[in-house]
Amino acid sequence: MPKGNIISRKSVKKKGATSPQPREVGQKIQSRREDLLSPEQELDDTKSKYAGRPERLTHPDLNSNHAAAANLVRNVDAAMVIVDKSLRIRGFTPSAAEILSLISPDIGCPITDLPSAAIFAQLESKIRDVMANVTTKEQEVTDVRGVWHSLRVRPYMSHANKVEGAVLTLTNIDNQKRQAAAQKQAMDELRGQSELLHLAHDSIMVRDVNSVILFWNRGAEETYGWSAAEACGNVSHQFLETEFPEPFDQVNEKLFNSGSWEGELIHRTRTGKQITVASRQVLQHDQNGRVVGILEINKDITLRKEAEESLRNLSARLLQLQDEERRRIARELHDSTGQSLAALVIHLSAISARVAEVDQTTAGLLREAIQLSQTASDEIRTLSYLLHPPTLDHAGLRSALEWYVEGFTQRSKVKVDLKVSIGPNRLSEIEERTLFRIVQESLTNIFRHSGSETASVRIALDSGIVRLEVSDKGKGIPGDILRALNSSGGQLGVGIRGMRERLRQLGGWLQIRSMSEGTTLNASFPIREIAEGEGRSQALGSS
Ligand SMILES: Nc1ncnc2c1ncn2[C@@H]1O[C@H](COP(=O)(O)OP(=O)(O)OP(=O)(O)O)[C@@H](O)[C@H]1O
Ligand SMILES: [Mg+2]
Repeated sequence: MPKGNIISRKSVKKKGATSPQPREVGQKIQSRREDLLSPEQELDDTKSKYAGRPERLTHPDLNSNHAAAANLVRNVDAAMVIVDKSLRIRGFTPSAAEILSLISPDIGCPITDLPSAAIFAQLESKIRDVMANVTTKEQEVTDVRGVWHSLRVRPYMSHANKVEGAVLTLTNIDNQKRQAAAQKQAMDELRGQSELLHLAHDSIMVRDVNSVILFWNRGAEETYGWSAAEACGNVSHQFLETEFPEPFDQVNEKLFNSGSWEGELIHRTRTGKQITVASRQVLQHDQNGRVVGILEINKDITLRKEAEESLRNLSARLLQLQDEERRRIARELHDSTGQSLAALVIHLSAISARVAEVDQTTAGLLREAIQLSQTASDEIRTLSYLLHPPTLDHAGLRSALEWYVEGFTQRSKVKVDLKVSIGPNRLSEIEERTLFRIVQESLTNIFRHSGSETASVRIALDSGIVRLEVSDKGKGIPGDILRALNSSGGQLGVGIRGMRERLRQLGGWLQIRSMSEGTTLNASFPIREIAEGEGRSQALGSS
């Protein structure tokens, strides 16, 4: 026997009723239990009560399908009402009874006669349409208490798959509706506040949590060329073809975890031009602390970036010119001045041999002149080699560094421990020159600024990355200077800035760590892809 699908008015909670006493509650539960245990009996009671209204109770489908309908709604927690083809109520669940104030005698009545059904717009035509077209219809309604429900009307099918009526299901969507309303209100407020943002010169947009643009100020219209009407409703990063400095998911994660995100983005404007913007994004919350939107302020820094880029290119070009100039002067000194001095020494030696026999005093002066010329010749040679070590071209980085370190130790008395392990192949000319110049400048700095008696130079090639480390045991770099060096470089010397610039050209980076026990400089860069047919020259004496 089907049970519990039909309830009596006794079980329907009356609006505005005062809290029942325990005794009353007990009675109600008892009566409810009776209702639930004896629906058949209830039906019989209802039948006899309405004996004078045969058109309702003797409806041909009512008795035969009662069991099926009751079975369907049994144990269903949802609010459901079943009607037959004539729109007469055949059964309902307790939840439906509560929402629509249904009572057992309503069984057999056309649902459209119910005063509570007035909350459903065009109910009759909807049900008939559902039955005729075997389709489903949905609408959102508020009940008499103002609670939101989603009403779903679908056909009620017999075992033989014939339409026998319709099932109306009410699902409580009050929470969702209220949340959506609160969110809309918050967004409206945000939009209202955003109006002020039209006055700002920067481009400002408000996006929802799915990045859909909701507000687009005049600054954004000017920057990107799209009007607010064109921009709103689009997903911002797709619309602006955003290039992020890190994956989009990571940007979003940081934004939602910390409440804000700052960084540089590349956007495409309406004309197709790419611009760089300094972007600041902040989460917007409603009164309950729920995120309702994102305020994004973008400042066009394309011109500044272009100026920085051309400045970098200029300094790169200057470094290159400096290298070329050094090489030219080195060659001149070696080939011209150096040769003249060598010839002078030879001539003086020849004169000295002749004079020695007749005039001892002149011979002594000549020996001194020869000595001075020899020293000048050596100095010119050293200067020429320092300006551009020929071994760097011919014998490779290791030999050039060994030669340089030896001379440096002689001149400065700073002992240098050098280890180069870059494998059998030579690096490219620019890579070798970069490493040589960084070691040269670092050792000069150690001699000039650190007071250290020792230095260590390590160069290694590991997974396609060249790593250079130069360290000393000196007094360290003062904190303010170190901070300036690790940022823009400020007004300090050109040595470390030059290192950075050389590394930047190779896609590398520089890190300086310094404490009172000494300074360590780390420079790294990825080795260049070898173009087809280019090849790296084989090491000449380096391993
Ligand atoms: N090994 C070191 N130990 C202590 N201080 C150092 C060391 N290396 C650099 N510094 C500090 O960093 C500053 C900047 O160095 P950088 O090489 O850029 O310029 P510089 O040596 O002063 O001048 P330039 O290299 O242009 O002749 C130095 O003035 C010095 O104060
Ligand atoms: Mg220096």
